[in-house]
Amino acid sequence: MKPEWTKLLCDPIDGTKLKLVNPLIKKGHVVSGKLIGGSGNVYRIKEGIPILLPPGAQSTSSVESFAFEWDEWGWLFAKKYWLKNNIRPLLGTESEFKGKTIVDAGAGSGAQSRWMAEGGAKLVISLELSNTIFNRHKETIKGFEDVVFPIQCDIAYLPITVKPDILYCINVLQHTKDPKKTFNNLSRLMHKENIFLFNVYNKEGVLGSKIVKILRRVIRWLPFRIWKWFSFLVAFGIFALDKMIPWVIKSKYSDVHYSDNFTELWLQIYDAFGAHSYQFTFSQKEQLDLIKKARLRIKVKDSLGYLLVKDV
Ligand SMILES: C[S@@+](CC[C@H](N)C(=O)[O-])C[C@H]1O[C@@H](n2cnc3c(N)ncnc32)[C@H](O)[C@@H]1O
Repeated sequence: MKPEWTKLLCDPIDGTKLKLVNPLIKKGHVVSGKLIGGSGNVYRIKEGIPILLPPGAQSTSSVESFAFEWDEWGWLFAKKYWLKNNIRPLLGTESEFKGKTIVDAGAGSGAQSRWMAEGGAKLVISLELSNTIFNRHKETIKGFEDVVFPIQCDIAYLPITVKPDILYCINVLQHTKDPKKTFNNLSRLMHKENIFLFNVYNKEGVLGSKIVKILRRVIRWLPFRIWKWFSFLVAFGIFALDKMIPWVIKSKYSDVHYSDNFTELWLQIYDAFGAHSYQFTFSQKEQLDLIKKARLRIKVKDSLGYLLVKDV
């Protein structure tokens, strides 16, 4: 992290300012040191990344399977898919990132943070709970270390004071321990002029969700690597079927954003049934309630998510 980024941070417990103590600075970046809050809470900076996880935060073990996923696959190959499915329908073009301050909440591999920086963002605060922040994420944002600011934290305990121009939380909320609390806390970053790109998993039919639940219970017992290769076989089956009789897949998975990139499909199968601790689903009504209670308004809605604004 850059030393001047300290002023963007606050203690995730009580919101007090953080003071940078004993920093080791190399080439203009803090490599190690401590951050101390107004009430004396101490947080470590490890490998240049502040760890702002208070007691009571969601554990990093709840997202260990995600860390494995990003460390194994990365996600940089999927920019085309991201632009087509998330950015174009909700935002238009990536030029909307130009000059903006963005919070990427639940940044995973760091790919989206990088793409926002490539789109010309002024600053991307990249918040991620899992330990991939020290591995794949670091590799992914190489060359953009002056724009992308990675922080290990739980987005239910936000450690930042900045109100960004764009708040981005896509494919994350359902994996948090308390999605409603997390959503409300994220919504506090909203004001009259910024936007929030957001989605959460839809509730499937009763049978569909039961099958996913049962499969996930079994898969949680498997070593991540075994599930990785088992999901390879499943992806291979679907992919082969699609190439032979495409209408079977297209009709069956018309509401799943099925990709024709094999690696993407493989990763999505690993992810959808993965061993992370939390995977909630929300009906349309529950999603609208969540948005309404946080006093946000839907400006754009697409099958993959929402662009939300705050009127007052
Ligand atoms: C399905 S991935 C999505 C990543 C990225 N936004 C994307 O669309 O590719 C969900 C990510 O959210 C992270 N995550 C889950 N709970 C979190 C929390 N409470 N705080 C911060 N990150 C969290 C996981 O570790 C994981 O990397």
